Amino acid sequence: MDDAGPRGQEAVERALRLLADPPGEPETSHGYLDLLGAAERRKPGPVQALWESNGGSALYDSAQSLARGVFTTLNPPFSTLGLEQAGTALDIGSGPGSVTSTLGRYVGARGLALGVDVSESMLRRAVRDYASANVGFIRADARRLPFRDACFDVVTCLAVLQLVPDPLTIVAEAARVLVPGGKVAIMVPSPGGRMGRRLGELIAGPAGLWLPTADEIAEVLTGNGVTIVHSRQSALVLRVEGTKAG
Ligand SMILES: C[S@@+](CC[C@H](N)C(=O)[O-])C[C@H]1O[C@@H](n2cnc3c(N)ncnc32)[C@H](O)[C@@H]1O
Repeated sequence: MDDAGPRGQEAVERALRLLADPPGEPETSHGYLDLLGAAERRKPGPVQALWESNGGSALYDSAQSLARGVFTTLNPPFSTLGLEQAGTALDIGSGPGSVTSTLGRYVGARGLALGVDVSESMLRRAVRDYASANVGFIRADARRLPFRDACFDVVTCLAVLQLVPDPLTIVAEAARVLVPGGKVAIMVPSPGGRMGRRLGELIAGPAGLWLPTADEIAEVLTGNGVTIVHSRQSALVLRVEGTKAG
């Protein structure tokens, strides 16, 4: 990663070229490109509301780095994503930005790694800690990604789908923005096994969580031209990875 003057400004300027409908006067006063502004949004569920608060985003930031150190299954499969120097990578629901930053290291100074999130507090942390000339952040709803079709070599979406009432729209969007031959990696914290599934169903409603199955995710990916290369439900985590037809 390179350092940029105003943090991430150069990356944001490069991101503008990938937008389907770039704003005439981009709002970047917090270091990220804000495409939502004060737009009315449906009230988030309790867990998402936590991630949108200052305390919650700080808590998540510390917890995720600790958890990723202990449970390697929570880490994205960086080595199998075919990340190349000068490539483009999108991290959907980037949270505090650590995964986006690692994608930035893989694609190098000539590449571009972008994180998209709805949470202003998460985005402020991400900009503070990771924004650079090739790592930038955008405030947008992943159910309607602002990018043109086929502009990313790699898309990651880690621990996000469970927070969104219509999670499969994000899966379709991830496939849409992938270039032919591009790779997508999805991870959902989701209990496996019959008992785990039943427990998940009981908790999900009150917590405002949605738990798509591997089959549901795979169906949307394949319907959008992505071949599934890996799909596995472990005790706590569901992972689905695919490659877009060339
Ligand atoms: C549990 S955090 C995961 C962060 C990061 N992917 C990671 O693995 O560390 C989930 C993130 O998804 C974001 N998110 C939830 N709904 C979203 C949406 N519709 N569009 C974009 N981001 C969303 C949340 O604000 C939060 O920052």
